[in-house]
Amino acid sequence: MTDIFEVINNRRSVRQYSNEQLKEDEVKKILDAGIMAPTARGEAPWHFTVIQSSDLLKYINETSIDLMLKSDNEFFQAIAKSGRNILHEAPTVIVVSGREDATNIQADCSAAIENILLAAEGLNIGSCWVGLIAIFFEDAENVAKLQIPEGYVPLYGVTLGYKVSEREGNPKRNKNVVNWIK
Ligand SMILES: Cc1cc2nc3c(=O)[nH]c(=O)nc-3n(C[C@H](O)[C@H](O)[C@H](O)COP(=O)(O)O)c2cc1C
Repeated sequence: MTDIFEVINNRRSVRQYSNEQLKEDEVKKILDAGIMAPTARGEAPWHFTVIQSSDLLKYINETSIDLMLKSDNEFFQAIAKSGRNILHEAPTVIVVSGREDATNIQADCSAAIENILLAAEGLNIGSCWVGLIAIFFEDAENVAKLQIPEGYVPLYGVTLGYKVSEREGNPKRNKNVVNWIK
């Protein structure tokens, strides 16, 4: 059995993927892990859109870059000008949406995403949580292309693909962030 602590410690955001598409059963296993996440009141208020169409992924990236260039946000403009692909040219991207009338969609969908990232790592598949895709979601015409069910709003993307190289070093974390009361 895979050691959960090893999986947690090994997971890093992967931003370079092989072109090879993931196997469908791997993606399904990863999604199953997502839907096992805890949710407020057990509402499970999520929907997952698996995008493997290279045309749609290209469209999402190019449209997002265009919107960033047109925005007055310096951070977005710098990313757009860097020439990087916001979806890291991943072969699979999962868009995670939350049900509008649920009580805590940000927390619930984030819990699902963390499960997705860890499940991917457990299969030695690279992943990255992508918040930048939010700029694409601002336009209803863009959202319509994702065929998300009525009543759900897209929140985040997760890129997935086989890693082209192993991670370098351990993640730097400040561990001085705890107080104990006994
Ligand atoms: C809410 C959220 C949004 C993020 N958005 C992006 C993003 O748009 N692009 C990206 O490359 N990484 C994104 N990340 C990944 C973080 O940059 C990354 O998790 C952080 O730098 C720590 O590195 P690690 O994941 O390798 O441990 C996001 C992470 C979170 C939690």
